[in-house]
Amino acid sequence: MITIVLFGKPGAGKGTQAAFLKEKYNLMHISTGDVFRFNLKNNTPLGEKAKTFIDNGELVPDEITIDMLRDEVEKNQDCNGFLFDGFPRTIKQAEALDELLLSKDWDLTATIALEADDNILVQRILERGKTSGRSDDQDELKIRNRYAEYNEKTAPLIDYYKAKNKYHAVNGIGTIEEITQRLSQVIDQL
Ligand code: C5P
Ligand code: MG
Repeated sequence: MITIVLFGKPGAGKGTQAAFLKEKYNLMHISTGDVFRFNLKNNTPLGEKAKTFIDNGELVPDEITIDMLRDEVEKNQDCNGFLFDGFPRTIKQAEALDELLLSKDWDLTATIALEADDNILVQRILERGKTSGRSDDQDELKIRNRYAEYNEKTAPLIDYYKAKNKYHAVNGIGTIEEITQRLSQVIDQL
């Protein structure tokens, strides 16, 4: 079982790249943000619980996100591998992922980060906000809050995965094709 965490700040291109990588490597793409947005749109109880956090650019509490991720993995066990996008975003979530993988007798294949400068990313997100319909993409304060959340809660994962020798990073600035190429080079060497 291949299990890859695609890591990076908001707007780094995780979703865009996942769309290519899932085809190329026959992986199940799980975007926690997309699952949340699906639940918001359909007014499910999960969507209700997550709504205010997402609207404010805050992270949804770990228990909610971890339960959701676990369900998504359970539903898709027969696949060739997983590409996690937007999960984990906290140490607690990373530990939960480790536990989940262990319980299945799977190993984390790698974490691959898309690196890019905040100012470029905020501009990218504002641009995306013109068409994404996402309220959290349209307001610079909310966007900045997502970066504050990233710096405080998500950035510590870099050391978490480095300590396990699972951390790889590629330059996230370039054309979509160039970046897919860089990610593929890393994956092909795993
Ligand atoms: O990954 P994406 O940027 O699409 O996530 C959108 C929002 O979903 C985040 O800003 C956050 O509110 C919520 N989210 C979360 N925890 C995750 C993934 C997403 O709280 N692990
Ligand atoms: Mg995304």
